[in-house]
Amino acid sequence: MKDEVTIRKYNPKTDKEHLFEIWYENNQNQISDEAEIEQYRDTFNHLLQYVDGSFEIFVAVLNNEVIGYQSALPIRNNPLFWREHAVSSTFVKKKYQSGGTGYNLLKRMLKHLPDSNITLFFGQTQTSNTTMISVGKKLGFKKIGVIPISNKESLNNELVLYVYNVPKNK
Ligand SMILES: CC(C)(COP(=O)(O)OP(=O)(O)OC[C@H]1O[C@@H](n2cnc3c(N)ncnc32)[C@H](O)[C@@H]1OP(=O)(O)O)[C@@H](O)C(=O)NCCC(=O)NCCS
Repeated sequence: MKDEVTIRKYNPKTDKEHLFEIWYENNQNQISDEAEIEQYRDTFNHLLQYVDGSFEIFVAVLNNEVIGYQSALPIRNNPLFWREHAVSSTFVKKKYQSGGTGYNLLKRMLKHLPDSNITLFFGQTQTSNTTMISVGKKLGFKKIGVIPISNKESLNNELVLYVYNVPKNK
């Protein structure tokens, strides 16, 4: 029988380290100073504390190995909306990419959102990331616009900003 990828809620006790490893593997080429890895790890782990049943993370598991995750975490810059607006992150281990896991993780998150406090779910990704853009589009995200390359950050890339308008829970 073919091994199956299952999707379940994130468990802070067992999954924390795996999530950072997956994120880091996919961002290594954007990080110029590897000495700062512990700072990235601390910032990443800090964000995980916002998971509260409304803000949520799902993980994809294959033979007990966490191979990807999908998060919906707060954008905390506006006190009025911080419980209602969330930002999306989808990450799959390189070895397992293009097997439908990213699509299924995001789909699972969208199923959760009507039961959460989240009303608008934002995503941003590099213009060149056609896979993520395709996945988002197929699952109902609408493009808002393009975030330009920063004048200040040399490592910056042009980003597409997109949003999913969470339906009411019937
Ligand atoms: C972007 C990323 C999350 C996508 O996940 P993935 O598992 O590699 O991709 P999938 O296998 O789910 O999707 C691959 C393609 O199949 C399509 N697909 C997958 N499952 C599908 C389904 N059930 N129905 C229809 N289409 C499907 C996707 O739309 C995509 O389409 P494309 O061929 O037009 O590009 C993953 O590649 C990744 O982690 N990349 C690095 C990190 C990153 O860029 N994250 C996004 C920024 S937040």
